[in-house]
Amino acid sequence: MRTLPQGWSAADRDRFYTTGQGSRLMPYTWFKALRRVDVDEPFGADRLQRYGYLRYDSPRSVEGLPMGFVVQGSRELGDLGMSCASCHTTAISYKKDNVQYDLLVDGAPANVDFQQFLVDLTAAVRLTFRDSTRFTVFAKTVLGADYSAAAEDTLRVSFGQWVTQFGDFMDRSLPRTPWGPGRLDAFGMIFNRVTGKDLGIVENYAVADAPVSYPFLWNAGRQDRTQWTGSVPNGHYIPALGRNGGEVLGVFGDLKPKLVTPILAELNRLFGWKIDITVDLSENSIDFEGLQALEELMGTLKPPPWPADVFGPLDATRVARGRDLFQANCASCHGENPSPQTAGTWHTPLLDVGTDPRTANNACREVKTGVFNGAGLLSKMKGDPMARLGPTARAADVLSDVALGVIIAGAIDAVKNGTVEQSGVWRGLTKDIRADAGTAGGQVASTRDPAAVEDKVKTLMTGIYKQPDTCPPAYEARVLHGVWATAPYLHNGSVPTLAELLTPPAQRKPTFAVGSREYDPKNVGYVTDKGAAANGTFVADPRTGNANTGHPFGTALPEDDRWSLIEYLKSI
Ligand code: HEC
Ligand code: HEC
Repeated sequence: MRTLPQGWSAADRDRFYTTGQGSRLMPYTWFKALRRVDVDEPFGADRLQRYGYLRYDSPRSVEGLPMGFVVQGSRELGDLGMSCASCHTTAISYKKDNVQYDLLVDGAPANVDFQQFLVDLTAAVRLTFRDSTRFTVFAKTVLGADYSAAAEDTLRVSFGQWVTQFGDFMDRSLPRTPWGPGRLDAFGMIFNRVTGKDLGIVENYAVADAPVSYPFLWNAGRQDRTQWTGSVPNGHYIPALGRNGGEVLGVFGDLKPKLVTPILAELNRLFGWKIDITVDLSENSIDFEGLQALEELMGTLKPPPWPADVFGPLDATRVARGRDLFQANCASCHGENPSPQTAGTWHTPLLDVGTDPRTANNACREVKTGVFNGAGLLSKMKGDPMARLGPTARAADVLSDVALGVIIAGAIDAVKNGTVEQSGVWRGLTKDIRADAGTAGGQVASTRDPAAVEDKVKTLMTGIYKQPDTCPPAYEARVLHGVWATAPYLHNGSVPTLAELLTPPAQRKPTFAVGSREYDPKNVGYVTDKGAAANGTFVADPRTGNANTGHPFGTALPEDDRWSLIEYLKSI
């Protein structure tokens, strides 16, 4: 597969595809032994290409796993995990003059059907548990030379527990109208994970029924807010680690929140802090070293340039005309306007432009707080040290406490274990302090100054997952570099191509095929007709969170101008 010049060396790419972040889906030996329900072969024999995951091989990758799938720990005892590349890398195909082109785009939305993967995985583990012949075959493969009837029985118990909790989570979370390829309700899953499963409160589960398109990553480091609802303040490593910490839990990281705890006393003693955390989050599987490395890599990723040799050259006259049209019609929201909040980043306005409100509404959902009842509301502590979570709170507030809590736990762990130098959290914090102080190198004395650290962490984390406070259906309007490679469009992926986005909302396609990798360079997006090698259909329907309304900008321009605008969008 051909790569595009995006600022990464082959070694950078390799690290992005193979570095783990602490996601623990299931024991790797179980995954290897598991067989498909529909055909008689190992579940991962096709490397999950049937769901759209990509092949990747290198000395650092695990044989037989797709790109972005890793083993956390040893091959014998470790767990299968997912990392950024499984969701944030895509492949685009195009045929020209009988030559097939396959382009790998780093940081672009994965064209994968995550829900179908989870559904099939659940069915396979359930059948394996239920069917005793099948289970014996499974046990023999897992146990190898250690197999005995007694060992099989022991395995049955632990496997059964795992199948029950995993299946239960999926039954409560996955929606009836499937997400389909290219979409995922990430926050729905994370909220269920943290407030339903980890807090052990069944009423907190809600169906994850607001799928979003996977956002592209090459500008993420330069935005002053990230996430479709703009809920994460950005521009520093510490909030980025907080954002990723939440994401790891969403992709099956482990977390066991416990009520307080000597950890608080220890923290305050170590640093002279006075932070009032009442929940101990130190037992978690999040790998901050991996996350910090991945985040730093992401910061160096560039937008993919339009591959003119494959899709044809751009028309310079149209590009120039399109640039003027963009300035007049789009740049107020999507321009490279400096952020008023974080130096060196772009302003990312959060606006209600009439698109589907469900994702934003769900982000405001209320839950029971369990062990977090009475805990300090960490995301607000800078402005209001007395802010507390009550018996119920926004799921986002609980998540913000978790995000901050795991970072602090990570920092303490590193001090306790004498691993500050290797610690991802301390590395991120040091870089943030340096960046803000404007110093390029050298040891940062203030990292070891407790008062400065306390203040810094609070400042950096203030507001995490808190925006938008009032829950309007507002979404991020980003700088659109490389947008040619990021179809489908809008937060819910309800519009298949740029040409369609510039069509009046009432005239947009009510249904279209999704999942094809075949590129349409004219309309800019994937081919969406039935003939395409697609594996799903998008049905525009406001009742399912899949409205394709809103964002009418540019749709009233003369047709010729709209094509010029598209030509310009290809060029940026
Ligand atoms: C299981 C799939 C999945 C994995 C794994 C994953 N992400 Fe994401 N990521 C998403 C989805 C979906 C969103 C959008 C969520 C939303 O805002 O509702 C997202 C959002 C983001 C954003 C915000 C982008 C923006 O402009 O709003 C960044 C940055 C990001 N991810 C980086 C990462 C990094 C770095 C990793 C690995 C450490 C990672 N992601 C792992 C699916 C994933
Ligand atoms: C008033 C502000 C505003 C203007 C003007 C505006 N947009 Fe947007 N744009 C947004 C917002 C907000 C979103 C996110 C909406 C969503 O995801 O539901 C968005 C999303 C997009 C996306 C989808 C990005 C993605 O990753 O899927 C594209 C492409 C886009 N706009 C192009 C344009 C073009 C081209 C113009 C000019 C003709 C334009 N926009 C004018 C606010 C604006």
